[in-house]
Amino acid sequence: MMVSVETNWNRPYHIVVFGASGFTGQFVVEEVARTACEGPNGNLHWAVAGRSKQKLDKVLEQAAAALGRPELRTGIDTIIADVGEPDSLAAMCKQAVIVLNCVGPYRFYGEPVVKACVENGAHCIDICGEPQFLEGMQLNYHSQAAEKGVYIVGSCGFDSIPADMGVLYTRDQFRGTLTAVESFLTASSGPEGGCIHDGTWQSAIYGFADSGKLKSLRRKFNHKPLPTVGSKIKRRGALFYSNEIQQYALPFMGADPSVVKRTQRFLAEEYQQTPVQYGAYAGVGGLCNIVKMIFAGMMFWFLVKFSFGRNLLIKFPEFFSFGFFSKAGPTRKQMEGSSFQFAFYGEGYTEGQDPSQGKPNGKIRTLVQGPEAGYVATPIAMVQAALTMLGEPKSLPREGGVYTPGAAFARTTLIDRLNKHGIQFSVL
Ligand SMILES: NC(=O)c1ccc[n+]([C@@H]2O[C@H](COP(=O)([O-])OP(=O)(O)OC[C@H]3O[C@@H](n4cnc5c(N)ncnc54)[C@H](OP(=O)(O)O)[C@@H]3O)[C@@H](O)[C@H]2O)c1
Repeated sequence: MMVSVETNWNRPYHIVVFGASGFTGQFVVEEVARTACEGPNGNLHWAVAGRSKQKLDKVLEQAAAALGRPELRTGIDTIIADVGEPDSLAAMCKQAVIVLNCVGPYRFYGEPVVKACVENGAHCIDICGEPQFLEGMQLNYHSQAAEKGVYIVGSCGFDSIPADMGVLYTRDQFRGTLTAVESFLTASSGPEGGCIHDGTWQSAIYGFADSGKLKSLRRKFNHKPLPTVGSKIKRRGALFYSNEIQQYALPFMGADPSVVKRTQRFLAEEYQQTPVQYGAYAGVGGLCNIVKMIFAGMMFWFLVKFSFGRNLLIKFPEFFSFGFFSKAGPTRKQMEGSSFQFAFYGEGYTEGQDPSQGKPNGKIRTLVQGPEAGYVATPIAMVQAALTMLGEPKSLPREGGVYTPGAAFARTTLIDRLNKHGIQFSVL
């Protein structure tokens, strides 16, 4: 039986924020509270979930204080659910149209949540940045989710909505057939500086330690290679000076390339669209940063291979990342002063040019920019993805399944919604 976004609307909650007491979860809670008026009929029904009632109450109290909305303290229900207790997950999922899953690292805690959502007819949106988990869920749960009409959409945070939707935006703005895009990410912080919370550091440590498994996982999909249209995209070096962003840059290590590639495959196979090749790079700034990065990178690569090394990395995130990651996470002040910019450089064949003849003859530049990436932009992206799913069920892929954001939302108004909430897409 198909359980569509529409038909399971009679559940008590449109949205349940699971992992609400986490560092990121608390800001997702605030964002849901802020945008509740954008829910169905201007009234979103939502609850928070986690393993500790006390912590959930504290999060609601804090959100009430931060937003000046005392009613949040008592007006929002709490659900107790633990990843280690499948019955509690099932009970949570049965009450939700969509579960917003903020419990990570996903490689350790994510699968039981996906399973419970699929089995109990709840859609699921996460902010995972771990390709191995994301692709593994697609491999193992796509058909079951399709059968149940359940949408499981991973990587709906800063990883990888700006990149994935940014490539689609660039393609849609280009007059003709876009064939390749390179993105250059830069992030800036104010006088107070900035950092990333420990949760992401841990996800990265275990992800790198296990990166060998990704190759064998990919083989299991048995994908045919996607056709290359236009000139084959050139791979840049491990460290190079980028004229595009006027600073040194290196290949972006996160989930974006994996997510964008999966989206492009889906759009090519499902809608026969021309796949766009993609290269992702991140700016590192000046020489001082490069020296730090090389040093931290070498230590990381060495230590991550051994369990004693991983323990050291986990124990002392500030030390091993030169303060880039921290156990306390950024302060609200630091977050206010931070922002990100994603510059996209695309090429393709202009209208009337045959993409199978000669070289691409057109170029386009676009920009996606927004507030602090991890804890401001991520909650905005995640919550807007959920509101889009609730509000535009007919524009989602025709069947349920495990999807990337680009695959799930290509035909929705997600980009317009993000534009209205401070994540801005523009043509330069
Ligand atoms: N895509 C992005 O750009 C982006 C941005 C930010 C974060 N993230 C990802 O989001 C995840 C969370 O990061 P974070 O920094 O917020 O981590 P965190 O502060 O450690 O939060 C982890 C959350 O998981 C909960 N949890 C742990 N074990 C559980 C269990 N057995 N049952 C139920 N809940 C459990 C914790 O509950 P307690 O409070 O009870 O301990 C907490 O709420 C990470 O994977 C991170 O990489 C992604």
